[in-house]
Amino acid sequence: MNRSEEIIAALKANPRAWLITGVAGFIGSNLLETLLRHEQEVTGIDNFATGSRANLEDVRRSVETAAWTRFRMIEGDICDLKTCRNACAGADYVLHQAALGSVPRSLADPVATNESNVKGFVNMLYAAKDAGVRRFVFASSSSVYGDHPALPKVEDQIGNCLSPYAVSKRVNELYAEVFSRCYGMECIGLRYFNVFGPRQDPNGAYAAVIPRWIAAMIKGKPVEINGDGETSRDFCYVANAVQANLLAATVENNEAFNKVYNIAVGQRRTLNELFELLRERLLPEFPHLATAEPQYRDFRAGDVRHSHADIGRGRTLLGYEPTHRIEDGLDEALEWYVATSKAGKAGMLAC
Ligand SMILES: NC(=O)c1ccc[n+]([C@@H]2O[C@H](COP(=O)([O-])OP(=O)(O)OC[C@H]3O[C@@H](n4cnc5c(N)ncnc54)[C@H](O)[C@@H]3O)[C@@H](O)[C@H]2O)c1
Repeated sequence: MNRSEEIIAALKANPRAWLITGVAGFIGSNLLETLLRHEQEVTGIDNFATGSRANLEDVRRSVETAAWTRFRMIEGDICDLKTCRNACAGADYVLHQAALGSVPRSLADPVATNESNVKGFVNMLYAAKDAGVRRFVFASSSSVYGDHPALPKVEDQIGNCLSPYAVSKRVNELYAEVFSRCYGMECIGLRYFNVFGPRQDPNGAYAAVIPRWIAAMIKGKPVEINGDGETSRDFCYVANAVQANLLAATVENNEAFNKVYNIAVGQRRTLNELFELLRERLLPEFPHLATAEPQYRDFRAGDVRHSHADIGRGRTLLGYEPTHRIEDGLDEALEWYVATSKAGKAGMLAC
C-alpha cells in the first residue's frame, strides 16, 4: 500500500469529522466527494460567491445516498466569526478552501479579495484554534512566488507579490505561521499551481484557462490567449490536490507541520501546448476544431510568465506523489465537461 492508500484505510476504519470551507467551489466539492466516498463525516461552509449549488448537486448524484447523509451544509460567510465558530465545532480537520480566486478579480476589487481571503482566513484560523481542531490545512497559491525568477519554484524562494490576490495568500501563510508559533496550532499550507478538473467554472470574466477554453472549443467559439502563448504553467489535476489535502491533514511527522508545500505535477506546459492537447482530445467529437486557431491578445497584468514547481518537499515530508500528469487529468476532465455539456446541465458551459 502507498501512503495515500494507508491513509484511506485508516480513515475508513476510524472516520473523522472534517470541515471544508468553500465546499461548493471547484476544489472544495472535489474534496467533499472524496471524503464522502471514504465514509467520513463532513461539514461544509460556503456563501456561494463563486461556488454553486449545482456543484453540490453533482456530488450528491455521484455518491451513495448513505454517504450524502454524512454531509452537513452551512450556508454562510467566513467573514462572520460566529459562523466560523459554528462550522468548526467538533471538527477534527479543517480544509480551508474558501477565498475569492483570480488575480484580475483582485486587481479590480482588492477590498473584496481582502475581506474573504484575509479577514475570512483569520476568522477561520481563530475559530479553529478555539475549537481545538487537530490540523488546519489551507489553500495557498503559486502566485506568492511573484517576480522571483528561479525555476522550478522552491518553497523558500519567493519574490515580490504581483497582485492583491498574491498578497492575500502570502498573508495567509504568515498568519498560519504565527498561529503555529503563538498558539501551538498545526497548520499546513498548500501552494496550488493551476488546478483543473471537473466542476471548475468555465463562465465569467475570471474563469480559469482550462475550463474556459474547453467551453469555447465545445461551442465553436474563439479561444483567446493572453500574450504569445509561450507563457507556461504547471497544470495540476484536482485529484493530486485532493491527495495533498488528505496527506497534509493526517501526516504525523513533526517536521512536516507548519510549512507550505508546492502542489503541482512538476511538469511545465505552455499555453500553445495546452491548446493542442485540448484540441487533439476534442477533435474526434467536435470536427469543427480541425481548423480552429487561437486568437492572441495582450499579456494580462499581474500574470507571472512561467510557473513550474519543485515538488520535492511534498514528496519527502508528506509522501505526495501526483497520480495524474496533465494528459491524464485532461482525459478525465474532458469526459466530465463533454458529458455535462451534452446533459445541458445548469448552464455549466454557458460561456
Ligand atoms: N483553482 C486553482 O487553480 C487554484 C490555484 C491556487 C490557489 N487556489 C485556491 O484554492 C481555493 C479553492 O479554489 P477553487 O478553484 O476551488 O475556487 P472556487 O471559486 O471554485 O471556490 C472557492 C469557494 O469559496 C467560496 N467563498 C468565497 N468567499 C467566501 C466567503 N467569504 N465565505 C464563504 N465561502 C466563500 C466560494 O463561493 C467558492 O465556492 C481558493 O482558496 C483559491 O484561492 C486555487
